[in-house]
Amino acid sequence: MTEKHSCRPSWFLDERTSLGRENTDEEHVAHYDEKEDADAAAEVEWLRGLVPGPNSTVIDLGAGTGQFSLLAARQWANVIAVDPSPVMLHELRRKVAAANARVAVVEGGYLTFDWPAADADLVYSRYALHHLPDFWKALALDRVRTMLRPGGILRLWDIVYNFPASEAVDRIEHWCSTGYSSEEGGWTRADLEEHVTDEHSTFTWLLEPMMLQAGFTIEEAVHSDNGIFAKYLLRAV
Ligand SMILES: C[S@@+](CC[C@H](N)C(=O)[O-])C[C@H]1O[C@@H](n2cnc3c(N)ncnc32)[C@H](O)[C@@H]1O
Repeated sequence: MTEKHSCRPSWFLDERTSLGRENTDEEHVAHYDEKEDADAAAEVEWLRGLVPGPNSTVIDLGAGTGQFSLLAARQWANVIAVDPSPVMLHELRRKVAAANARVAVVEGGYLTFDWPAADADLVYSRYALHHLPDFWKALALDRVRTMLRPGGILRLWDIVYNFPASEAVDRIEHWCSTGYSSEEGGWTRADLEEHVTDEHSTFTWLLEPMMLQAGFTIEEAVHSDNGIFAKYLLRAV
């Protein structure tokens, strides 16, 4: 569980500076849980059927405010919540302390968090991978596979575009048009536009081969009807 920033080559992506503007915005982070319900109870309930051992090791990569980690800690003994944002980490640590939860909180990310034991049963990651450009996504998936034991699971949710490039303008514009007004709460049109312009969501037909290349099998892939959201269950070979 170490962070290594200093021994990486100078061209290596600094994930502390690519973690998304809003994730360092104290106002956004303070209201994140009102804005985004991670559906963590349903996720833990479903995943405990796949990862039954109470002593299992679960790594939440890009844990944010810890909605998943806090509930996961009631189910599994070794929960490690990892995030590169100091603002998210501050809120996460506050919530972990308030709940007296058994969650180890670690500063790091896909490219910097190390799990040399290579024995994790589950890596959970929701809406974090899109902060990396595609080259780095491939490295990130490779790193996650090395954190897992053979047969271990990566549960990945993200914004991943499931349509051909020829449909992208219409599909993305339709999605942006579903943003709420700032009075309504929730993700606004400006938030969705910022996602498209400043972050790195990719196409399913680019991401899914990266998963296979990294040494995962895709056991389940659920794509939303609007072609914007994807939920994967991947298993380390
Ligand atoms: C939209 S939030 C999702 C938080 C949480 N997983 C959830 O579902 O509520 C995205 C999180 O990804 C984190 N993040 C950004 N870049 C990352 C990276 N390279 N590795 C891991 N997490 C990253 C951000 O700091 C932020 O906490």
